[in-house]
Amino acid sequence: MDKILIHGGHPLSGSIKVSGSKNSSLPILAATLLTREPCVVHGVPDLSDTHYMLQILIHLGAQVERASGTVSVSADNIGSVAPYDVVRKMRASICVLGPLLGRCKEATVSLPGGCVIGDRPIDLHLKGFEGLGAAVRVEGGNVKVFAPKLTGAVINLRGKFGPTVLGTDNMMMAAVLADGVTVIEGAAQEPEVVDLANFLNKMGAKIEGAGTRRIIIEGVAALHGTEHDVIPDRIEAGTFLVAGAICGQGITVKRIEPEHVRSITDALASCGFPVNIADHAISISPNGEAKALELTTDPYPGFPSDMQAQMCALLSTTDGISVVTENIFPQRYMHVAELKRMGAQMQLEGATAVIQGVDRLFGAPVMASDLRASAALVLAGLKADGITEVSRVYHIDRGYERLDEKLSELGAHIERVKAA
Ligand code: EPZ
Repeated sequence: MDKILIHGGHPLSGSIKVSGSKNSSLPILAATLLTREPCVVHGVPDLSDTHYMLQILIHLGAQVERASGTVSVSADNIGSVAPYDVVRKMRASICVLGPLLGRCKEATVSLPGGCVIGDRPIDLHLKGFEGLGAAVRVEGGNVKVFAPKLTGAVINLRGKFGPTVLGTDNMMMAAVLADGVTVIEGAAQEPEVVDLANFLNKMGAKIEGAGTRRIIIEGVAALHGTEHDVIPDRIEAGTFLVAGAICGQGITVKRIEPEHVRSITDALASCGFPVNIADHAISISPNGEAKALELTTDPYPGFPSDMQAQMCALLSTTDGISVVTENIFPQRYMHVAELKRMGAQMQLEGATAVIQGVDRLFGAPVMASDLRASAALVLAGLKADGITEVSRVYHIDRGYERLDEKLSELGAHIERVKAA
């Protein structure tokens, strides 16, 4: 397994261009299953997660071509059973359920396992499918959904942790070919949900209200092929902005929609790192007034759970006592033990991390666990004295396109050590 070595203490400067959004690409690639006609998607990041999704589409019978960031899919004749050996690698595989149900009126997908950020139930997805008239069976580690026909309905998708992003995606993709009108109450508002709705509408769907808590879908007889550019990845952008806060001398993140990272830039400004926004580029440079912060993660437009670990890395070196509360995935703290190995002082109290800022972090061998926790360890390594060795970097490669290379281009002393 590859490792990443970071020689800390080298300031970053310069600019990076944000890649296409992983969390937008995955449901949009799944949505290509909804038509026999070819679809072309531009800006798909080169990640193991997008690779897994393409494998699933191929296994289902679609023709797939990839040329750098452009993916062409023709799902002319497809099956409805997604392969366990690929699905088990990526929870987001669950978002093929909706389009397969919508197109084939049946689907079989292995249940997503739990993962290090906590239990990953799909009860809201299944409730939505049943609301459209589908029967749901869970057997042999698979979830099977089938319906002689799908009929529009009013469905509330709010759960005890708020809206569900992929659940909202799955519902839209199942409802676009249903008879009649579907109303999703308590829908997720994430920009990636809006990007999927825009893609579906370009295919001929009739979706209104994406980006609000109430999405209305009028079913149509069939969808046609289309071409689409995926939105930039707001979490990658946020990760680089935090890098600029932790050890920057002025870095600029290019090709980002400022509104998509508003909660992140507001949080950075609140702990002493104001940003400068110009068109679709955001610059950050420390001004020596870093201060502690009280932060909670919430559904969009609140502060994203996917940026919580990165902020813990920043706040571990920010003077004062910060309090971070994780409202989306209460167990999403795999990074805390590893950051403490680097000298961070933080204590977990349920879903809350209490962080006492320290003057220095120290390089150490640390282990990546999930996608965003891994990024947090790299960020801490940029600041730490000495060398930090991050192992199991395949977690990083799931969601960040060339993270080490992009940081190196900004001046980080970082190298990837290929596994023997
Ligand atoms: C999406 O996951 C993202 N993944 C996650 O990003 C992100 O952290 C998450 O949304 C929250 O923003 C993709 O888009 C591929 P949810 P998703 O359904 O849709 C509970 C990353 O790092 N819930 O919005 O799977 C759930 O347990 C990944 O890029 C139910 O209770 O998350 C959680 O507490 C990690 N029942 C909350 O809702 C359900 O049926 C939000 O989960 C579904 C979810």
